[in-house]
Amino acid sequence: MLGNVRLPNPIGLAAGYDKDGLLYDRFSRWGMGFYIVGSITAHRRRPLPRPRLYRSRDGLWMLNAFGLPSEGVIPVSRRINGMRARVPIISNVAGFSLSEFSVLIRAMDSLPQVSAIELNISCPLFDDPAGMDELAALSSGLTRKPLLIKLSPRHSRILENAVHIAEENGLGISVYNTIPVTTDLLGAGRGGMSGLPLYRRTLSALARIREVSDRIPLMAIGGIMTGVQVLEALEAGADAVQALTAVAFRGPIAFRRMSEELLEAMEAKGYRSVSEAKGYRSRALVRAN
Ligand SMILES: Cc1cc2nc3c(=O)[nH]c(=O)nc-3n(C[C@H](O)[C@H](O)[C@H](O)COP(=O)(O)O)c2cc1C
Repeated sequence: MLGNVRLPNPIGLAAGYDKDGLLYDRFSRWGMGFYIVGSITAHRRRPLPRPRLYRSRDGLWMLNAFGLPSEGVIPVSRRINGMRARVPIISNVAGFSLSEFSVLIRAMDSLPQVSAIELNISCPLFDDPAGMDELAALSSGLTRKPLLIKLSPRHSRILENAVHIAEENGLGISVYNTIPVTTDLLGAGRGGMSGLPLYRRTLSALARIREVSDRIPLMAIGGIMTGVQVLEALEAGADAVQALTAVAFRGPIAFRRMSEELLEAMEAKGYRSVSEAKGYRSRALVRAN
């Protein structure tokens, strides 16, 4: 469960793989527990110059700089409206102002296929707690669907503030988006790093968040590629996890494999259900204190 959304399994496809919802019919058969479409932007946006993606040869990481290309909210909403939701669909929306977010959230709110809405706050306007608070208050007034704020590692220094803001406004948190880097390997000269280098940061963010709030809906993202890692994230307090770089390294079978590995890892530790595994470590810590 993520808030009131029932997920067939806790491993979903992260934002960025299917930005415009063009691939849902085919890719939603891959065995994921939920499917994120986006980031969807208010207006049509063109991609940054090539190369936009670099896949490491000797480590489990990638660099990307697409620049949030999107067909824009009108055509993408129309496409989502035509989908037969086989697995729950979460829309990830990216606004560059409060009014853009408002347009995007209203559009997603009107689509019965959309189970939840994730807010990609890449725009620096929402970097500080004041901007984040304004966005959270606005968003929660626009929809009754579950909302998640997707944070970047650059929000790490205000993580606890972000949790308070999200909690006060009834939102959940997704950690993390990619690590910002400068690089000659991409056409834009900068980009985001995904994959294994994010994994420890994500786990540490989960622990920090659960120290502040044991109720807030929480998604773990970043370098999760095996069932053992999924279990580690659940034990650290995640309600569900998302993966993207795993698909680049393990192929479309990644979701089925991770689910099988998760069951094995749970069995080895004697957990009978995902909810039993969830937050195990944070509860154990509380008991120990
Ligand atoms: C090629 C690529 C494109 C991405 N595009 C988006 C995007 O449009 N919106 C977004 O919120 N995150 C985007 N992300 C970030 C991922 O959703 C995820 O947060 C990040 O890659 C960490 O997870 P991973 O290590 O499993 O890939 C993108 C990542 C990659 C690798």
